[in-house]
Amino acid sequence: MGRLDGRIAWVTGAGTGIGAATAERFAAEGATVVITGRRREPLEAVADRIRAAGGTAHVRPADLTKAAQVAEVAGGIAREFGRLDVLVSNAGLNIVERDWKRLSPAGIDELIGGNLTSAFYVAQAVLPIMREQGGGVMIHTASMAGRNIGLMSGPGYVAAKHGVVAMSHTINQAECINGIRSTAFCPGEVNTEILKKRPNPLSQQELDEMLQPADCADMILYVATLPPHVTMNEVWLTPTRNRGYVRALGVKL
Ligand SMILES: NC(=O)c1ccc[n+]([C@@H]2O[C@H](COP(=O)([O-])OP(=O)(O)OC[C@H]3O[C@@H](n4cnc5c(N)ncnc54)[C@H](OP(=O)(O)O)[C@@H]3O)[C@@H](O)[C@H]2O)c1
Repeated sequence: MGRLDGRIAWVTGAGTGIGAATAERFAAEGATVVITGRRREPLEAVADRIRAAGGTAHVRPADLTKAAQVAEVAGGIAREFGRLDVLVSNAGLNIVERDWKRLSPAGIDELIGGNLTSAFYVAQAVLPIMREQGGGVMIHTASMAGRNIGLMSGPGYVAAKHGVVAMSHTINQAECINGIRSTAFCPGEVNTEILKKRPNPLSQQELDEMLQPADCADMILYVATLPPHVTMNEVWLTPTRNRGYVRALGVKL
């Protein structure tokens, strides 16, 4: 018996990285997963792996910075399944030209739109479904950059992820009486495609020492399977050999 048997879960940013690992982990635990990203191809690859393992996946591509596309996916979930038990709002991005010297208005729009506005659209679209059914759990992938102010991730990303953390906490404040729980999930560095946008390339050893997508999927599954009376408001998950700490100790990375 799976820990998510009979549950409906929507995972965004599910074509790669943390989202792909979470969708596969959820499906292996019996959830029916709806998976979203902009590109259909990586989503189909994830769905193929889920189906090959005996699971159930529905591919629903969308650009989550467009409110109408978000509403279409959420409306489809309500019509098709009549409920949504778990939302993993995980889509996000960063850009190479992230520092103040190179940041452009288009870059600002991309960072705020792709990390914060999109998360708002998704939360706003699923809340009516969860209210109607009397509960549900949301996991918002923010970042340690949503808690610690620093320049490495860039000011737009840091500001957007602080916004995601704040947004998640307000959901608990407003929706606890409806049985809705929200977690701000703050990972440190995770070995995924987003790191290809780092201005300074990382070594294989550095990538190997980071969190891996499966580590995040395990944590997200834990949060998703907590009993309905328990809210995990915020989670920090970081690599033990945390490069920020190691640097501060003056030890060679
Ligand atoms: N890796 C890290 O070190 C790290 C640390 C802290 C937090 N995070 C956060 O973790 C989350 C997952 O990222 P990841 O590390 O797994 O990197 P990733 O592999 O690049 O995954 C991000 C996913 O988001 C999707 N996405 C981006 N913009 C979208 C949009 N407008 N609409 C729909 N989907 C969109 C991308 O797919 P498409 O391009 O096909 O749309 C991609 O599959 C992000 O929110 C990221 O900010 C990552």
